Formats: sequence, structure tokens, C-alpha cells
Amino acid sequence: MNIILMGCPGAGKGTQSAKLLQAYPLHHISTGDVLRAEMASDSELGKQLGEIVNKGNLVPDELMVQMLEKIVKATDKGIIFDGFPRTVAQAEALDAMMQRLQRAITHVIMIDLPAEEVVKRICSRKQCKKCKAILGVDLNNPPAVCPSCGGELYTRPDDTPERATHRLEVYRQSTLPVKNHYQNSGKYVEINGNQTPEKVFEDIKKILEK
Ligand code: AP5
Ligand code: MG
Repeated sequence: MNIILMGCPGAGKGTQSAKLLQAYPLHHISTGDVLRAEMASDSELGKQLGEIVNKGNLVPDELMVQMLEKIVKATDKGIIFDGFPRTVAQAEALDAMMQRLQRAITHVIMIDLPAEEVVKRICSRKQCKKCKAILGVDLNNPPAVCPSCGGELYTRPDDTPERATHRLEVYRQSTLPVKNHYQNSGKYVEINGNQTPEKVFEDIKKILEK
């Protein structure tokens, strides 16, 4: 299986990827995580990426495709693509890459979430530095440390109401058209992301096990 998880900021791509990894022998590629790792390394490239990503804008397609190809080539496992492709140009580059590598996308799963939920979810997210768990917290009473491993929790710099709103606009303009690229491929399915994470995962499993 090579699965593309699509959806707006906060749709639950990372949350569902973690559940998929527990259930299936897959390799998870979150291009957001890849970029944040480069930014944390303090490299010159990382600094340039930070200028783009922390403002909620998209990294140029060519650079993103180059970074992705290296990771895809390094694994023989089926892949969860989380946050890629994000433009029609990236979708076309992914088609060409998969063909070159004699692999194929098997499922494109769009997790739908109403716009009014986006800022709410994004602004109450914390992530664990150690085990990478993604948490939705009560902002009036946030946990001091990660409930799973005791690790330090952090808030992404792009998780402010202004940046979340901007990211949603970027999503509408640049990423939503990717839907048309896959809609008639026979691999595209939409699911309701506005239900519990467990219920969303049940819907995903039904699609994968058909
Ligand atoms: P990326 O890290 O991919 O961010 P995003 O697409 O905005 O998505 P998020 O990670 O914010 O949300 P998610 O869908 O993973 O939701 P999550 O599971 O965490 O990209 C960041 C940036 O990197 C981009 O803005 C861009 O600058 C750059 N970038 C990345 N890829 C790129 C590319 N291909 N090309 C160019 N630039 C690129 O859940 C969110 C919150 O909701 C959590 O608190 C969670 O606990 C909660 N939650 C999840 N599911 C549920 C549920 N069912 N019910 C209630 N709460 C839920
Ligand atoms: Mg994510």
C-alpha cells in the first residue's frame, strides 16, 4: 500500500498516520516533519525553510520533490504520504517518481474537516519532543509534560490563529486543486474527519481492507 493522506491543516493527517503505523507495516513521510527536522538542525537550508514554513507558506515544489525522492528511495516499505502532494505540480512529480521507481499510489484518502474546526484544533495542539505524540489539549489546563512518556511538550510556531487562518487559505488555493488530479483515478475517497479519531480510523481501515 502507498497511501496519500490529504486534508486541510488540523484535519488529523498526523493523528491518523500514527494509528496506521501501529496497525500496518508502513513508512510514514510527513513533509512538514521533514522540514521541521531540517529547521531544527540550524543549517543554512533550515534557516531559509523557517522563513517560509513558520509563516504558513509553501516551500517551492522543486526543493520539496528533491527532498521527498531521497526518502522514498530509502525505503522498501509501503508509504503513508502525509502533507504531500500539496500542489498539482507536486502531484505530477509524484506520479513520475513512482513510475520511475516502479511503485504506485494505491489510495488517496481525503480527511474532510469543516473550516470552523481548523483554528480551534490547531491552536489547542501540543506535540511531544521525545515521542512525537500529537495532543489536543485543554488550553485552560494544559498538561505540563507528555502524558505518554513524560517528554517536553511544545507548540509549533505556525500554530497561531493568524497563521492557521493563512495556512487554510493557502490550502484552499494551492492544495485543494490536487483533489481534481486524483478524483477520477479510482483511488480517491473522502471521509468525515469531524468525528472521534477512533471513528476516523475505523473509516480508513474499511477503505484499506476493501
Ligand atoms: P504540515 O506539518 O503538514 O501541516 P498541515 O498540513 O498544516 O497539517 P497539520 O500538521 O497542522 O495537521 P494534521 O492534519 O496533521 O492534524 P493533526 O493530526 O496534527 O506542514 C507544515 C508546513 O510545512 C506547511 O504549512 C508548509 O509551510 C510546509 N510544507 C509541508 N509539506 C509541504 C509540501 N509538500 N510542499 C510545500 N510546503 C510544505 O491534528 C491536529 C490537532 O487536532 C491535534 O491537536 C489533534 O490532537 C487534534 N485532532 C486530530 N484528529 C482529531 C479528531 N478526530 N477529533 C478531535 N481532535 C482531533
Ligand atoms: Mg501534521
